[in-house]
Amino acid sequence: MVNSKKQIKSNLEYLRKLFIMPDSPDKFIEFGHELLEMIHDFFQQKGGIHSSITLPELSEIFNQTQLPHEPMLIKDVLAEIKTKVIGHSVKVGSPYYIGHMISAIPYFMILLEMIIAALNQNQVKIETAKASSFVEREFVAWLHRLIFNRTERFYQKNIQNPRIALGNITSDGTIANLTALLVAREKAFPPKKGFSSVRAEGIDRALKQHGYTRGVILVSTRGHYSIKKAANLLGLGEDNVIEVPVDHMNKIDLKKLQKRIQALQGRGKKERAKIVAIIGIAGTTETGNVDPLKDLAAISREIGTHFHVDACWGGSALLVDEYRELLQGIEYADSVSIDAHKLLYCPMAMGIILFRSEKDLNLIKHCSRYIIRRNSVDTGRFTIEGSRPFSCLKPWAALKIIGREGYGLLFKRAQECTATLKTILEGCGNFETLNVPELFILAYRFIPEKVRIQLHTWNEQLEKHWSGKNAKELRKNIRKVNHLINALNIKLHKALRRDDTTFVSRTTLESTRYRPQKIVVLRAVLINPLTDRDILQEIVQTQNRIGLDIWREFEPVYLRIMKNSGPEKESTSLRTAEQV
Ligand SMILES: Cc1ncc(COP(=O)(O)O)c(C=O)c1O
Repeated sequence: MVNSKKQIKSNLEYLRKLFIMPDSPDKFIEFGHELLEMIHDFFQQKGGIHSSITLPELSEIFNQTQLPHEPMLIKDVLAEIKTKVIGHSVKVGSPYYIGHMISAIPYFMILLEMIIAALNQNQVKIETAKASSFVEREFVAWLHRLIFNRTERFYQKNIQNPRIALGNITSDGTIANLTALLVAREKAFPPKKGFSSVRAEGIDRALKQHGYTRGVILVSTRGHYSIKKAANLLGLGEDNVIEVPVDHMNKIDLKKLQKRIQALQGRGKKERAKIVAIIGIAGTTETGNVDPLKDLAAISREIGTHFHVDACWGGSALLVDEYRELLQGIEYADSVSIDAHKLLYCPMAMGIILFRSEKDLNLIKHCSRYIIRRNSVDTGRFTIEGSRPFSCLKPWAALKIIGREGYGLLFKRAQECTATLKTILEGCGNFETLNVPELFILAYRFIPEKVRIQLHTWNEQLEKHWSGKNAKELRKNIRKVNHLINALNIKLHKALRRDDTTFVSRTTLESTRYRPQKIVVLRAVLINPLTDRDILQEIVQTQNRIGLDIWREFEPVYLRIMKNSGPEKESTSLRTAEQV
């Protein structure tokens, strides 16, 4: 593609030709070919995952303060996209990229995206989305059945029933969670004498009329930040998202949850809290673990609150019977959110929110005079969003092309990759794995073998001498060494980003065997079917090599900690660790 950068004058005839017309497909097909080649080149490129360009250099490229005025030739703009955008995009599909909930996508998704763009349906109303509205309802019913498994009669009656919605397609998981909590908020403050609804009168009146001072949401400390965003938008306030600690498996601590509920309910007249929702997580973002959903369902039922399951990550695992036990109890949820761009292997981005009761979404139903009329069949009556693309075509087609059997193989592969990485890390000696993976996410850290063994020995001694002066000393030593290893892993993670041949992400967990101390962990998400044992070996070798290199700077501090473990020396060694 030659970058001639020819300027052209505005000309309606030329502009008209840019629009899809039955008699002018030549250029469309020509550019379509070029575009596919460009994308193909991108996939074939070797080299860094993020491209070597720096962020300041990128801001130099995209620094035009004026809007474009004269039209440019498509081929020139495509050439610009190729060099400036595609060339510097993150290769999230690379099998060496195992750091986030994103992966390679099947190539047919790109073709489906073309259909979605070409048809340009707007799902808000039947007048702009005919067959696609029916596809959406069918897809929603499939997933509803997968989770709630109500009777055949129920689905026969409701699959295309325009008076209700079993769920919505949303732009992402954040909006799916928001939709669930919006419904929960309406249910928490039902109509009564002198009060119609929260949506009409606002949260202040709702609380006052129902005799509460606050409305709260309970979720574990592993809860996704979208829950706080929702609490903010719903007028409940972010501080009213109460985070309940997790156990060593990163699952909500049920005893602590019960205690929080009792405390909230027993505060007397001055402060009365309404529990708007309890949220269970089916696949936490940081560790992929699943809450005890059955217990959470029972607790929610007992106190009469909405039970939402954030299954944005793990919900699709239900496609495979093997995972049903792990997610058992999800069928008792009032609502469940799932992301198609995660385990359904769809491109960015699409969320799904499903409600067990077909009546729930009526609580937020909206109508207007020119579209989404009261008695229309428009799906837009039930959604928070207005205009929406025909995104569900992607998972709808994927479920047919890949099938439950295919997803079963993909998840099996993901599970094997997770187990393989764990084995390789543990076999190397210089790593410590720090969670029990359930849904393809492994948390671990780099820690030179002798340090790991030392921590292990101290931990064992601590088990024998749980209290007293010795125990205090041991705890202090463990804390100091972990502090040093935290700094080491942050530095390693930054070095890996510079190296750029592989990618894992990083977080901090308070739930490891060193709890409550916060431990910096590397996080691997192993869903790319193109990743294999050899690649995982390479990734670990790279991390080990760079880790050992950095360790040379840290070792003197470690030796100093080992030598001086007295209380008066602590602050000096900690400071030194931070400086390193
Ligand atoms: C458990 C969980 N819930 C919600 C979300 C939010 O999803 P989205 O990024 O699609 O808005 C995520 C995203 O990673 C998640 O992991």
